Amino acid sequence: MARLLDGKALAARLRATLAARVAALPFEPGLVVVRVGEDPASGVYVRNKDRAAREAGFASRTLHLPEATTEAELLATIASLNADDRVDGILVQLPLPAHVNTQAAIAAVDPVKDVDGFHPLNAGRLASGLPGLVPCTPRGVMHLLAESGARLRGARALVLGRSQIVGRPMAQLLLGADCTVTVAHSRTDDLGAECRRADILVAAVGRAEMVKGGWIKPGAVVVDVGINRRADGTLCGDVAFGEAGHAAAITPVPGGVGPMTIACLLENTLDAAIARRMAA
Ligand code: GUN
Repeated sequence: MARLLDGKALAARLRATLAARVAALPFEPGLVVVRVGEDPASGVYVRNKDRAAREAGFASRTLHLPEATTEAELLATIASLNADDRVDGILVQLPLPAHVNTQAAIAAVDPVKDVDGFHPLNAGRLASGLPGLVPCTPRGVMHLLAESGARLRGARALVLGRSQIVGRPMAQLLLGADCTVTVAHSRTDDLGAECRRADILVAAVGRAEMVKGGWIKPGAVVVDVGINRRADGTLCGDVAFGEAGHAAAITPVPGGVGPMTIACLLENTLDAAIARRMAA
């Protein structure tokens, strides 16, 4: 049987370490999560982020703006958070309502407070191999891979998915860890053949159980970023988990990557707080 990579347990350990570091600071790192409108999944995510932050000793608050908020109003809110010295991290929860330009909102966040790592400056720093704030989910995946004991240097890594939030930054982090990286996606010819070559397989396409057992190389380490709902309402990942027994290790869904994303948001907020207040 494949070893289970327990993200819930690893995230709990990381949060405890972060809480101890926060407790030793002479200030409370401040996080503001901005939610616009009523996307139901976002409501759950934002509550979980806020609770985890408070439990670890951060000064966290959620700013819930109405669905009708204009783009100009949102940008003005972000500008006021940029200027607020108590705020170390700003996260604008996605998706935003359709009448708001998402890229404009992302670009409005001060890059030093950009704890999502989505700002083009941080994305560019990552792509250039320079230090900066890194998106939370890929950062969490790197912790899980470290925990797995997988050799990264020289290994073939396949990232399935090319989103701004996961796939692209994930590929950059794996490259930085000396993997030989392929980015595949829904339009890739013979996806199965690409996957079968991978020693490290990170699935982030958002298609329920798309990665079949036969696509997984024996002994591969599989990280499943997907959270999908089956027709019967149950949750599943992008990988057919039940067919992956021949992998060396695999993350479950739920309980794999999801908890790590939240822990890494706190890690980014602490990093941002220390970097900004040291520079001040
Ligand atoms: N919506 C889904 N995932 C994310 C994330 O990592 N950050 C933000 N801001 N919104 C999201």
